[in-house]
Amino acid sequence: MRPIGIFDSGYGGLTVFRNIRDALPEYDYIYLGDNARAPYGNRSFDTIHAYTWEAVQWMFAQGCPLIILACNTASAKALRTIQQKNLPNKFPDKRVLGVIRPTAEIIGQFSKSGHVGVLGTSGTVNSNSYPLEIEKFFPSLSVYQQACPLWVPLVEAGEENSAAADLLVEENLTQLLQQARDIDTVLLACTHYPLLAATIAKHLPDSIQMVGQGQIVAESLKDYLSRHPEIAKQITQTKTVQFFTTDNAADFEEKGARFLGQSIRAKQIVLTSE
Ligand code: DGL
Repeated sequence: MRPIGIFDSGYGGLTVFRNIRDALPEYDYIYLGDNARAPYGNRSFDTIHAYTWEAVQWMFAQGCPLIILACNTASAKALRTIQQKNLPNKFPDKRVLGVIRPTAEIIGQFSKSGHVGVLGTSGTVNSNSYPLEIEKFFPSLSVYQQACPLWVPLVEAGEENSAAADLLVEENLTQLLQQARDIDTVLLACTHYPLLAATIAKHLPDSIQMVGQGQIVAESLKDYLSRHPEIAKQITQTKTVQFFTTDNAADFEEKGARFLGQSIRAKQIVLTSE
């Protein structure tokens, strides 16, 4: 098997994988969640790079010609080094793509006012990756960011529709919207936030649209594979999907099902820095 690899710090990438599999059902996939070391959101650049590179090498060893970092934090903090330093050195024929660039390429098309808000983990926001990437495609777009450090733990605890979620979501949205009156588009730049969509919608004025990433990333991958037949033809097509986690498999099966919207069978693996 030479599957497409989907990597995330934990469960969140399953919200992206859902859309990818809908858009490209013919391929084989392996999904790896580094649950033992999640969340990545508040970790340092070096740590996130080290963890992500270990995961990428493990997925290459499973036969993946192409890996999607379905994690905003890993895309923000590890992808550039992997693409520019690690791959050319060790795996020049393999590809690793992230979720920030495909989103940056299109986000400006959603906004009429030219003012877009980005919600993410502290790691994603502090890396400034979104404003920097978006500027390449939409130089006149104004981008405002808000870190929402408690949203991931909230979702992981299954509290996305609770009173606590109402409070935290309202607080962070107010902080974002206070930065600029004309924001008309809010990007959910974190894999976990689609599970909070109903609560976010409750606290977002009707005039502001909420944009998720799953479909954007899936369409972009489809486009990438049509433009790169030399990569596409390496990927096997038996519709096999396997899930792996660095933590307890039973926990992954139980919690992951909420993110994927269907039941999961998972296996535990150990990542090493070899
Ligand atoms: N997957 C991460 C992201 O999209 C959220 C979870 C974490 O912080 O590890 O940023």
